[in-house]
Amino acid sequence: MANTKEERVFNPSRDFSKSAHIAGMEEYRDLHKRSLADPESFWRKLSDEFEWHKQWTILRKWDPPRCRWFEDGELNITVNCLDRHVLAGKGDKVAYYWEGEPGDRRSITYKELLSSVCQTANGLKSLGLEKGDRVIIYMPMVVETVVAMLACARLGLVHSVIFGGFSSDAIRDRVLDASARCVITSDGGWRRGKIIPLKSNVDQAVSNNGCPSVEHVIVLNRCENTIQMTPNRDVWWHDLLSEQATTCEPVMVPAEHPLYILYTSGTTGKPKGVVHATGGYMVYTATTSKIVFDLRDDDVYWCTADVGWVTGHSYIVYGILANCASSVMYEGAPDHPDFGRLWKIVQDYKVTVFYTAPTAIRAFIKWGDSWPNNYNLSTLRLIGTVGEPINPDVWNWYRRIIGGNKCPIVDTWWQTETGGIMITPIPGATPTKPGSATLPFFGVDAEILREDGSVADTDERGLLVIKQPWPSMIRGIYKDGWGEPGHDGEFGEQDRFHETYFGKFPGVYLAGDAATRDSDGYFWVIGRIDDVLNVSGHRIGTAEVESSLVSHEAVAEAAVIGVPDELTGEAVAAFVTLKSNYNAGDELQETLRQHVAKTIGAFVRPKILRFTASLPKTRSGKIMRRLLREIAMGGEIQGDTTTLEDINALVDLQKQEE
Ligand code: PRX
Repeated sequence: MANTKEERVFNPSRDFSKSAHIAGMEEYRDLHKRSLADPESFWRKLSDEFEWHKQWTILRKWDPPRCRWFEDGELNITVNCLDRHVLAGKGDKVAYYWEGEPGDRRSITYKELLSSVCQTANGLKSLGLEKGDRVIIYMPMVVETVVAMLACARLGLVHSVIFGGFSSDAIRDRVLDASARCVITSDGGWRRGKIIPLKSNVDQAVSNNGCPSVEHVIVLNRCENTIQMTPNRDVWWHDLLSEQATTCEPVMVPAEHPLYILYTSGTTGKPKGVVHATGGYMVYTATTSKIVFDLRDDDVYWCTADVGWVTGHSYIVYGILANCASSVMYEGAPDHPDFGRLWKIVQDYKVTVFYTAPTAIRAFIKWGDSWPNNYNLSTLRLIGTVGEPINPDVWNWYRRIIGGNKCPIVDTWWQTETGGIMITPIPGATPTKPGSATLPFFGVDAEILREDGSVADTDERGLLVIKQPWPSMIRGIYKDGWGEPGHDGEFGEQDRFHETYFGKFPGVYLAGDAATRDSDGYFWVIGRIDDVLNVSGHRIGTAEVESSLVSHEAVAEAAVIGVPDELTGEAVAAFVTLKSNYNAGDELQETLRQHVAKTIGAFVRPKILRFTASLPKTRSGKIMRRLLREIAMGGEIQGDTTTLEDINALVDLQKQEE
């Protein structure tokens, strides 16, 4: 899609601002200033809305990279997401309107959700699981996935959700890293009319002593799929719960107790287990949910992300439930049975707030305006995006066709590591510019720095950093900056954690994104500065794809880069050299693409895969990715190539292009 230069500024409508939580720029600027100058009183007021078992007295301790918030406070997050609302008389409010892909529907109230969570927590307790134990959740988009997460939190267990699109190898890596005692999965989940075999993926990962830490596998019957149950290890969800009481005393934990680990891609082949702590995460995700989505009692909110990603954790589960909001949850694909599925859901449930990813919007545009135009979307009052930069044309289409020219758009910039939204318009206040995530949220001290640490000029490209700690920031990388949870949260080796985020500018959080800031102070995020790709809003390290390729017997060496793609934002392009007894050809090309899909997940399957006699490297042995990118995109090779070790490699690659 062409990227038209867009100079227009869109002000929130007077109607919207009138009743918004933050009604204008003056209020935003004043609060933002206060949140940085006097964080203690700012966060005290917000945290007082929650139920603390023991009130905190110490706001934060900041000894970079180690950060603690509300350290001496104690709480249980499920009390705040569930019991608190039920006690306040809101138990009959719907927590989730759920729709399965085949069309089955269910709604669950806060009272019912609390009972299910307690019952499931009792089931987990009956298996002998204890505070601090890690539990893997590998489930489809069903209500029980949220129940499983909250049941863990009820007991102080640390959940680690794995996106259902990951393969068995990826599951094994994560289970092993987390030393999980229990895996919660399902016999399958529906996707485009087919069953995704979640349980058999788990079997492949953990059977034959693949993951010795796993003692229990709990299996939800979602699809009546035929599966194998391993005696003494596997138990059906309904059997485990059948005898359990529907009340369960919450286990109170210190505010810094780890709530979850979520694996995300970094620059090495091994995904990072991002650790989030309970108290700060709760306060921050609840506050951002309320302000950024301007949540009010009668809203029907819908975030289309999968709970397997951080967006789902913060803005389908914790932040949203903490506000006692009603959400829609949909199991399946947006194009099943036709391209109108999402719009039919908006119409049927009268959705008022809609949050999705630019990659999805690009697909909607491709499918044609008639699909959304056929449905009544007039209930929408606020729409948002997350996950990647949105180009102005896509932003304008979203505003016009989905937002009916009236809804403010919140383009929210944040990361797995930040836990919550960091740079975003405040919908009733911030004038928006298409393509800009605009201004920092309260408590966020964002800046653009040059390589030498000095502040970049207006419109000068630099590195996006956050200069003060915020409540939901990453506490460590599991087993690499964070010790065994449940054992006083001791830190192990800080190396990877410290180096990745605080190594470049001491005491300053390096986001890993390039960005500019304009004369109004608006942030424009360009993309990653490291070897991390963003494919359809999913983060994937080039090193992970490279390790997958070289794990195939035919491959000697592989180099992976990202190339721009109209639909997915970036696409994976791989350059492969083969071992001597293997021949390049269409069949092997397909085999290798499949191999990546099988070992990581289908969403990372390389779009481009080329064979080459050798890879272009500098004299010091570094692969010249810039050259590969130019070759993959079919452009002219520019710039200095004199440090090339083997110019023939480049020539060979170019020949293939012709
Ligand atoms: O490059 C930025 C991009 O997504 C990265 C974070 O990916 P992940 O940890 O998977 O979290 C995605 C969902 C929060 C960032 O480093 N990104 C995220 N949101 C935006 C964005 N880039 C531009 N604009 C955004 N709104």
